[in-house]
Amino acid sequence: MSQQVKAVVARAKGAPVEVVTINVPDPGPGEAVVKVQSCGVCHTDLHYREGGINDDFPFLLGHEASGIVEAVGPDVTSVAPGDFVVLNWRAVCGECRACRRGEPQYCFNTHNATQKMTLAEGEDAGTELSPALGIGAFAEKTLVAAGQCTKVDPKARPASVGLLGCGVMAGIGAAINTGAVGRGKSIAVIGCGGVGVAAIAGAALAGASPIIAVDIDAKKLAKAVEMGATHTVDSSQVDPVEEIKRICAQTYEGAEGADVVVEAVGRPETWKQAFYARDLAGTVVLVGVPTPDMKVPEIPLIDVFGRGGALKSSWYGDCLPSRDFPMLVDLYQQGRLDLDAFVTEEIGIEDIEAAFDKMHHGDVLRSVVIL
Ligand code: APR
Ligand code: ZN
Ligand code: ZN
Repeated sequence: MSQQVKAVVARAKGAPVEVVTINVPDPGPGEAVVKVQSCGVCHTDLHYREGGINDDFPFLLGHEASGIVEAVGPDVTSVAPGDFVVLNWRAVCGECRACRRGEPQYCFNTHNATQKMTLAEGEDAGTELSPALGIGAFAEKTLVAAGQCTKVDPKARPASVGLLGCGVMAGIGAAINTGAVGRGKSIAVIGCGGVGVAAIAGAALAGASPIIAVDIDAKKLAKAVEMGATHTVDSSQVDPVEEIKRICAQTYEGAEGADVVVEAVGRPETWKQAFYARDLAGTVVLVGVPTPDMKVPEIPLIDVFGRGGALKSSWYGDCLPSRDFPMLVDLYQQGRLDLDAFVTEEIGIEDIEAAFDKMHHGDVLRSVVIL
């Protein structure tokens, strides 16, 4: 059995997305059908539409979502119909080396639903859909693996907590999980889009100080201050490396940079700034996604050796959804983490192309589709 719902599909490379009817199968073993309530528009959705990830068109876009579980497969016990859940693109396997050694946040053997959703209309009706990041939540309902559903406080606002499903979690996690900032540690965040300001919010939550926001856009820096930055650096005007060193030395005598520098742009030149802006034995966290042609910038190996510390990349904020989502939703409900501030606008399922356009203009942290 299956049911038909409305959904947003990218049929061909570079073509505008379309609202179409799709078939959603009843959940089989290990699966759940979720009635989607909200889904944020992320750069990755546009990247899929442009063919930048792979050629498995047609894609069912959307992956930063919350909703209500409608039905579960026969063996599913982790969630039940009626549960309010945030979806994740990291359902861990429990069997790989990372899972066995007790670090499932590093599981790369993650899984999705095994059955396929399909197109229900057009000449290509019946074609299997590729859901973005294994989710596909620009849809009234979607089929996922039960492990992709994390139960959270049902009183929370869907549009806000759904954002934990991707960019906001990536940023918060880059600061607190990968960078492990906390009281007595300084942090600089280069790039203050949705991911960067989430890293700033995470650092504020963890008690880091100073929290230095770096961007080339003054509007982004103003937002960063609202989210908890203590200092701002406009790197179109001044050398960010020197500024970060100066600010850190004001608090911690002798500091030669920040304990943690998060790179949330995804470019070689900003990665190089991050490398030199960290204190001796400091940590660089790369969370911005580079394009395949970008290379690590030329840095004398002696500088890598001589400065010590760690160069890390942060994959989904090294999060463990079952641990991090409920915790962050509680902090939100208590007024200690302002997830509402990430929701710039609530839009309809028809408005996704317009939301892609706005993403380029830099005025939007997140457009969130309400279903
Ligand atoms: N120096 C500092 N900031 C920069 C620079 C630069 N040279 N170039 C761009 N920026 C800033 C932009 O002004 C913007 O505020 O980086 C920010 C990027 O933000 P967004 O475009 O909103 O992207 P975001 O959603 O935050 O994602 C950042 O992480 O997940 C990845 O694919 C995503 O690579 C992207 C990165
Ligand atoms: Zn695993
Ligand atoms: Zn995303």
